[in-house]
Formats: sequence, C-alpha cells, structure tokens
Amino acid sequence: MYKHFYDKLRKGEHHFMIRRALVLGMLALILAALTGCQQEYKMSILDTAGTVAEMQKDLVWLSIYIMSFVVAVVTLIMIYVLIRYRKKPGDDTPPKQVEGNNLLEAIWIIVPILLLAILAVPTVTTTFALDKVQADGEVLNVKVVGAQFWWQFEYPDLGIVTAQELHIPTGTKVNLQLETRDVIHSFWVPRLAGKTDLVSGRTNTMWLEATEPGTYIGKCAELCGDGHGVMDFLVVAQEPAEFEQWVESMKNPQTTPTNALSERGEQVFAQSCASCHAVAGTDFAGTAGPNLTGFANRQKVAGFWDNTDENVFQWIKDPESMKPGSLMPAVPLADEDIEALVAYLKDLK
Ligand code: CUA
Repeated sequence: MYKHFYDKLRKGEHHFMIRRALVLGMLALILAALTGCQQEYKMSILDTAGTVAEMQKDLVWLSIYIMSFVVAVVTLIMIYVLIRYRKKPGDDTPPKQVEGNNLLEAIWIIVPILLLAILAVPTVTTTFALDKVQADGEVLNVKVVGAQFWWQFEYPDLGIVTAQELHIPTGTKVNLQLETRDVIHSFWVPRLAGKTDLVSGRTNTMWLEATEPGTYIGKCAELCGDGHGVMDFLVVAQEPAEFEQWVESMKNPQTTPTNALSERGEQVFAQSCASCHAVAGTDFAGTAGPNLTGFANRQKVAGFWDNTDENVFQWIKDPESMKPGSLMPAVPLADEDIEALVAYLKDLK
C-alpha cells in the first residue's frame, strides 16, 4: 500500500491521489447534507432556544477559543523552529546543546495554569448554577420519571400527569426533579439544556427555560437497554396563555366516546389496558405504563412514531416491532378490537 503510494508520488502521479481525496470529501459532504435533511427536529447544541443551553454554549465557545489559541501558538512556534534551525547544506557542525532554561520552564508551567483557570472558574460556577432549584419569580415544578423506555412528567402544583410530551410555558424557569423507575437514564434536550442522569435511589435536579415557543426533541442519553435508541420525548414550549389552555384541557379532558366504535374501544380499554394506563377524568388509573390523558393531542405514539391511526394500531398489535425491549405487552386482541381501541384513543383530547 505505502510502496504503491510512494511509487505514484515519485512518478508525479499525486494528482490522482488528490483527486480521489476530493471525491471522497465531496461524498462525505453530500451524505452529511442528506442525513441533515431527514431530521424532523433540529438538535444542535449550538442552535440554542433557551437560557441554560445559551450558558452552556458560551462555555463550549470559551474552551474552543482557548484551545484554538494554544494550537495556533504551538503551530507558529513549530513552523518558526523548523525553518530557522533546519540543517543547511554543507554545515555539519552539531547544533548548540541547550538545557535547563528556567524562564522557559516557568512560562510553560504558568501559561497552561492560567488558561485552565480561565476555563475552570466559569465551568464550575455554571455547573453549580444549573442544578440549583430556581425560586425567583414565576417557576414551574415538574417531576420527571424515566422508565424503560418512556418518560413521565408530573406537575405536582397543577395536579397533572402526562407522558412523552413535556409542555412548558416560554419565559418561565422550569425546575426538574429527575428520578428513575429502573435503570439509569439521562434527560437531554439539546436545544434547551444539557444532560442530567436519572439515577436509582436519588433525585437529581436541573432547570431549563425556553425563550422561544416551539417543539424541541429530547433524547435519553444513557444506554438503558434495547429501546434506548427510541426513548425520545418532546418538549412543547408554548406562550403562557396557550400553556394555560393546555393545563385546562388536561385538568378537564374530554374522555367520552363520540361514536359506536370508540364506545366499544372504551370497553376493550377497561378490560385490557386500564390495569397499566390511566386516563384523567375516568376510572382508569393504572400506573405501570404511560398516562394517556389527552392522547389524541400528542404528536407521537410511543414517544417516537408519528401519532397516526396506523402507527397506534401497529403499536398495540406488536409493540416489539415499534420499540424493541418495550415492557408493553402484545395483548392478544382481535384486529377489530384494536381498531376500536384506536378510535377510543382518538377521542381522548
Ligand atoms: Cu433511557 Cu437510554
């Protein structure tokens, strides 16, 4: 391989290598652009939409600036030394041997210490500021519970429990209490705030604040089992008035079947689903699985798939095919019963 390379180089065929490198580079760019287009939600930590993400981005840039400065200085010194002290033709005397320059030694100890201090002080202060429970002004408290492989969001002050979609008002600091039912998960909304782990037996805290209304994707950022890759959730940031409406609709949800199929679905739900799933405003109060209040208004089913009739049907019929390792059992139901269930779930608004 190397011999081949050097042969080509010697024969002046390196334009061939350069052309190949260019083609490969362009292919990589096209691939990157294509995969970028497939993303439904932006998830760059540099494309911030909230106060916390902004603070974290500032830290990222600070360290990039410092590291770029170090790389630039070292590179310049290296280039200077390579040129200034290169071996000149006909000069065979060995260079002057130098050792133990106290000034230089001091400089390259002190400068890195200073640079690390410039980086460490804001990093440590920000780290402490970000898990501190916020108390000034209007705040919203939410308890986040992670489970294989879904998210529960409880609003203790509002008496609301929901799953997979965290609704928050814009311009309000949201205190999150993070707990897990089973293994370690990690709560991450790239555009709003960095990751915090959900660890068994303890409650971690963090806060976030969305400055712009929008839907932001959240990810589980800790390998937690088969379904980890699809343990997504959404954060829906709404103008405060709109958020109030959502709170109202969750407190007084519509749960009455609006047609015969849906009515039958309600019965199937009572028999086959209610031991695990709760719906506010009904007798259904299971807690093993996600709370389904207002399910029809959710954008996703199972936190990951678009909330279409087909996907809901498939999810109930064969959960394993939609989310590997899911603890949702494939309840043996006739297709007609599942269709009735889908109709009932569509009436939960
Ligand atoms: Cu939960 Cu990964």
